[in-house]
Amino acid sequence: MTEPFVEITRREEFSAAHRLHNPRFSDEENRRLYGVCNNPNGHGHNYAFEVTVRGPVPRETGMVMDLNRLMVLLREEIVSQVDHKHLNHDVPWLAGIVPTAEHVAVAFWKRIEPRLAQFEGCSLRRVRVYESRDNFADYHGAGA
Ligand code: NI
Repeated sequence: MTEPFVEITRREEFSAAHRLHNPRFSDEENRRLYGVCNNPNGHGHNYAFEVTVRGPVPRETGMVMDLNRLMVLLREEIVSQVDHKHLNHDVPWLAGIVPTAEHVAVAFWKRIEPRLAQFEGCSLRRVRVYESRDNFADYHGAGA
């Protein structure tokens, strides 16, 4: 019998500041586009994100991968880098982008995906970034 494929998800939280502003647009256009998120000195969010990994479930272990190892990976690659930081200024791998939830989800994917190579048969399926309880963005990888 072939092993069933299952998706598992780990959720993490962090707090950070950001400002949505594109210097290519006028100040007025930025205010119109981003509203209160264009506040010149930034503002904070209590972010959360979820990372979903798909893989085979060996009968012997019953696990796609050890969720504790996924937790450690996410804290190393993401949480330790962004928690209590200003996303526009303090995080080199977010430099030069407008830090919307959409862009942050793509940037997280790029950091996490290479680290999953060590887990045989596992692939990254989704990165979901919550900017607030009700607002979130999903990224499923290039071309998806
Ligand atoms: Ni905001």
